[in-house]
Amino acid sequence: MKKYEETIEKLKKYEQNEIINMMTKKYTEDEKNKLEEQLQNINLEQVIELYKNAKKIPAIDETKIEHIKYTDLKSLPEEQFKEYKQIGIDVIKNNKYAVITMAGGQGTRLGHKGPKGTFKIDTTNGEKYLFQIIVESLQKANEKYGVIIPWYIMTSEDNNDQTIEFLEKNNYFGYKKEKVKFFKQGKVPMIKTDGNIVIDKNKLVKEASDGNGSIYKSLKDSGLLQEMKSEGIEWIFVGGVDNILLKIVDPVLTGITIKEKNLISSKSVVKKNAKERVGVFCKLNGVPKVIEYTELPERMAVETDSNGELMYGEVNILSHLFNIKALEKLADQKLPYHTAFKKSNYLNEDTEFIEVSEPNAYKFESYIFDGFSFFNDMSILRVKREDEFAPIKNASGSDSPETAIKLYNEYVERNNK
Ligand code: UD1
Repeated sequence: MKKYEETIEKLKKYEQNEIINMMTKKYTEDEKNKLEEQLQNINLEQVIELYKNAKKIPAIDETKIEHIKYTDLKSLPEEQFKEYKQIGIDVIKNNKYAVITMAGGQGTRLGHKGPKGTFKIDTTNGEKYLFQIIVESLQKANEKYGVIIPWYIMTSEDNNDQTIEFLEKNNYFGYKKEKVKFFKQGKVPMIKTDGNIVIDKNKLVKEASDGNGSIYKSLKDSGLLQEMKSEGIEWIFVGGVDNILLKIVDPVLTGITIKEKNLISSKSVVKKNAKERVGVFCKLNGVPKVIEYTELPERMAVETDSNGELMYGEVNILSHLFNIKALEKLADQKLPYHTAFKKSNYLNEDTEFIEVSEPNAYKFESYIFDGFSFFNDMSILRVKREDEFAPIKNASGSDSPETAIKLYNEYVERNNK
């Protein structure tokens, strides 16, 4: 009983009157216990703080912004290219390289039911699932370098079981099962514009994935970071699940990072136009940063330099490389949260399920690239868009299966010639 009263007190403190009314008037003892148990693991103070800041649009101090230095792959002298490549090959051949696929996202824009990696596309090389494309890249590298690269997959509470089930059913597309490990990202409650936490159909708090910035802490909490270390892994490539031209094993990126004495690197492509929905690299206050498309003011998005090129035109294609020391450092840092305004069905005070047609709630996410700002520098390798960037984000139009498959097929054709 005392515990229940404590929960109510806590809810009162954070003005969660809706939940209090529901619990006291509409919940059975069992339902109360379950919600109470869940609330014990939720940091209400943090959620309310995030809510209070939700409407504040992060201001970017333009006077502190500079271009980020990058290396353009296409103008890299042959000798240097070879040197970087050899350095990277040595890392891979010595079993010091691992890959993480971030697959915890919901893929709402694509409208595919199920984890995004289970989405199937039809290419000139046959029908393939997104996870299968990743396995193929890994297998190709394994054959080339005589290793079996460990593959880690970040899932979320919502799609973890389905992801594992899918890969089991498909026999990991022939990948050595013992080399595939999963870890779940974290979650944060959603909160309505009126400040009440969203209660879901199951009468519990609706918690949503906390963004791909969750990777650092989740990897550590899962014990896998320690495992990587004890296995002698030094360089970890981290990529998204939905870019079907992503080069997950590229010795050149590894080589350049080592040669430039950085602990982090990333690939970029040139931004197609001012409206493209991508994050862009820059340096803010002297440290590397990505400004996400949702936060880049229009005025800055269209700004051009003296050559007529977009000032903020170095696109983040989610192709990142980390030294294990960087991952260790970042696991203990607090990343900022970004707010998205989303539609979220909910139970009202009378426990009626309300289906909404307009955004009504805030979702909080941290972004992987905010980790870059904890370092003074990082290597950026600008690559050709047509060789490395074919994302599947939307059901139709730009960045859709149609546009990505076209790019993929053209790439296959070019490289088979
Ligand atoms: C992302 C980048 C953006 C970049 C673009 C290129 C971030 C925050 N933004 O945007 O800068 O220009 O890709 O395509 O990285 N994910 C999780 N857990 C989550 C959310 C996402 O694992 O909670 C994974 C997704 O499964 C996906 C990747 O992160 O593999 C990117 O997520 P998505 O929401 O698609 O990011 P974009 O908005 O496309």
